[in-house]
Amino acid sequence: MQPIELIRLAEAARDTAYAPYSGFRVGAALLAASGLVYTGCNIENAAYSPTNCAERTAFFKAVSAGERKFVAIAIAGGRDKEVTEPCPPCGVCRQVMAEFCDSENFMIYVSRGQGQHDTYTLGRLLPESFGKSNVI
Ligand code: THU
Repeated sequence: MQPIELIRLAEAARDTAYAPYSGFRVGAALLAASGLVYTGCNIENAAYSPTNCAERTAFFKAVSAGERKFVAIAIAGGRDKEVTEPCPPCGVCRQVMAEFCDSENFMIYVSRGQGQHDTYTLGRLLPESFGKSNVI
């Protein structure tokens, strides 16, 4: 699957965002090694801190479906109907990615809108991360 296809799915996933407090709608599309794509949106809460980001929604859907290996994620976010600026993943979502994804190979595509995107490895966005090897 090409990055642009994954980005289009992330942009479409913004449609179901539940963001009545921030008005900031985020969509994510996560490509598993199985070839299946799991989408997610942000889900806000009146108590604020229970809010779940789009990326984590996608990961939790995938992991709960039995997936454990992942190839790439596309992220699209913003206040407007169309994406106009990049929405890089928050620190908590980067840590969730690190639990399941290889830092050198897992790719993160951040939409800039109008068919443009930025490309990162997980290792670039979360260097020197805390993980399984620190605990086990
Ligand atoms: N948000 C995401 O869904 N993903 C990110 O990577 C950054 C932030 C959401 C959380 C909240 O609902 C809204 O965007 C504003 O922070």
